[in-house]
Amino acid sequence: MMNINELLERARNWDKLAIAKLITMAEEGVELPIQVVRRSHVIGITGPPGSGKSTLIYTMARKIPQDRKVAILTIDPSSPFTGGSFMGNRIRMQELTSRSNIYIRSMATRGIRGGLNYATIAAINILEYAGADYIFLETVGAGQSDTDVKYVADTILVLVPPLSGDEIQALKSGLMEIGDIYVVSKSDNQASESTYRDLMAMVDMMKEIKGDEWRPVVLKVSGLYGYGVDELLRVIDGRFMELMKSGKLDSALVGRRVLEMRLYAYDLLEKGLNEMKDLERDVASGKLSPQDAARRLFSFSKPRLDHVAVAVKNIDDAARKFKDLGFRVSDPIIVEEQGVKVVMVYLGNTKIELLEPLGPETTVAKFIEKRGEGIHHIALEVGNINEFIEKVKGAGLTITGEPSRGAEGIVTFIHPKSLNGVLLELVQHLSLNE
Ligand code: CO
Repeated sequence: MMNINELLERARNWDKLAIAKLITMAEEGVELPIQVVRRSHVIGITGPPGSGKSTLIYTMARKIPQDRKVAILTIDPSSPFTGGSFMGNRIRMQELTSRSNIYIRSMATRGIRGGLNYATIAAINILEYAGADYIFLETVGAGQSDTDVKYVADTILVLVPPLSGDEIQALKSGLMEIGDIYVVSKSDNQASESTYRDLMAMVDMMKEIKGDEWRPVVLKVSGLYGYGVDELLRVIDGRFMELMKSGKLDSALVGRRVLEMRLYAYDLLEKGLNEMKDLERDVASGKLSPQDAARRLFSFSKPRLDHVAVAVKNIDDAARKFKDLGFRVSDPIIVEEQGVKVVMVYLGNTKIELLEPLGPETTVAKFIEKRGEGIHHIALEVGNINEFIEKVKGAGLTITGEPSRGAEGIVTFIHPKSLNGVLLELVQHLSLNE
């Protein structure tokens, strides 16, 4: 088994096997140490089913000079690139795969939302790292994947098959708003001429709404016979030069990273949903309400451990140690009411609260004097602090005082004498957290 660094090294030399392995690793959730430097033109190709996306990609890929590297990613399950569909297509795909400059990969459309997923973005990063000149991204042309594709594609090519005027009207809302290049596909018959005219009229109308920034190109192409494809490639290359010069290619990386984060979160969410069986059992047996069970999936359920507090003599010194360990640490906050200086150390869905006394007469100073530095209290976040206090009183425990303003919300404490020596803080965060 080759290690990641060796695979990356090979991928850099356009080793298709290494690229394939890296993409598989990404699909399995491995985070790859890739720094993307922009060099690929990512071209999203979208359009309704049957608009001829795969045929057009096939024809473009064949026409691109063999010294340029071409990657084709498809997330359309009906695409012949995924191995389904017509025999004739499959033979043509094999012809492409046999060319050393062309890499083809179909991505599973797993995921709760359909369309792009985290692994698609990872694959684009890998291919750009590997030095692809063109990355064609074939999408289903519906719903969410269209919205997503805007964040990863530098150029969006919308394929429109010969349609009636009414059908074009119906396309308007979704596809008509995102295209940089509109292509009337299958332009080898009469119907395409009127489609082209309708499309031009539509684009003119949209321009008035969207303003001068949006200057899409409308072309006629026949993927099957190759008509118009040279012109399309010229337009694509011209656009790439423009994007490079204007710096838009680099700034597009921000959108890609944000989408990567969002899609990765969906991935985690889905894993959580798959682990739901235990919770389902608890709901079935009546141990948890459906709402509590659902909230528990996301650690939203309360009470939850909000933080563990540690009394320290020198808070700057303590904060630096946690920082050195790689944790995110807040700026110090002074909480006069509690007589402390506070620093929060953030851990997943809980925190460590560092406390330094503000003066020798404060409770935390007395705590350190008596017992030395160490764990001072445990804090639970509750939904409604007043309701919880009623529960505490009902159980015969003692509250140290009325709820007051703490470092991050309204707080009070349960006296350690009434709770086995544990000083238990109750926190109700302000609406920010709800
Ligand atoms: Co606290």
